[in-house]
Amino acid sequence: MDWRSFSTSADFNLPTATTKFDSQQNFSPKNFQRSIGPPPLRGPTPPQSRPCYNQELLSTEGSLPVAATPTSVIAIYPGSFDPITNGHLDLIERGARLVGKLVVSVLRNEKKQPLFSVSERMEMLREVVKGIPNVEVDFFDGLLVDYASQKNATLIFRGIRAISDYEHELQMALMNRRLRPEIDTVFLMSGEAHSFISSHLVKEVIRLGGNITGLVPPAVETRLRNRIFGEKQSNASNT
Ligand code: PNS
Repeated sequence: MDWRSFSTSADFNLPTATTKFDSQQNFSPKNFQRSIGPPPLRGPTPPQSRPCYNQELLSTEGSLPVAATPTSVIAIYPGSFDPITNGHLDLIERGARLVGKLVVSVLRNEKKQPLFSVSERMEMLREVVKGIPNVEVDFFDGLLVDYASQKNATLIFRGIRAISDYEHELQMALMNRRLRPEIDTVFLMSGEAHSFISSHLVKEVIRLGGNITGLVPPAVETRLRNRIFGEKQSNASNT
């Protein structure tokens, strides 16, 4: 059977959260195949495509063909998202194409002093991902892998912008794998146009009067302006 005989992505028998590989069994391609279904597809990309919901962000690539979306696979994209940037959004777009469900989850960290509350960050996320049907917005605290497991997720997506991100991300990925070997971390590269954007820098630039248009979604820019300049005004009136 080759890819031409598959009509939809649902035809692919892909591993689910409950799939277990018997470690006592000798590994062979045949055993692996029996355990998780058909082997990976080879050859030309099937002529399927999913519309791109944010043409502006992906204008360089247009509507990317989707080889096969494993509908049973759930991934978590965790982060602080304080606030969501166009780099995050680009990654959400890319990630959502690869899995059946992508849960974008905001870390609730009492120790950090965020600019936006968890519910404000979730609100902004919901606003900007509303056109992507397989994306859910949530929050979590505690260990990421425990949360992922509760959500039946088998993948964690993390974005890598530059090699400097890699060391810390690798450390987290390996620790997470040690804690729950059944959950893998997948590093996704955002488009080059977004590789320098971070929430931290965006906040610094706007605070110092710089232009952040195009770095965050317009609704987020408005909220940032209101929060930062509103705060400045109220601080000034208190002194
Ligand atoms: O956007 P960020 O701030 O880089 O995201 C960091 C995040 C949320 C992925 C990381 O801090 C995290 O996973 N925190 C949850 C606590 C946890 O599981 N710690 C062990 C990770 S090795």
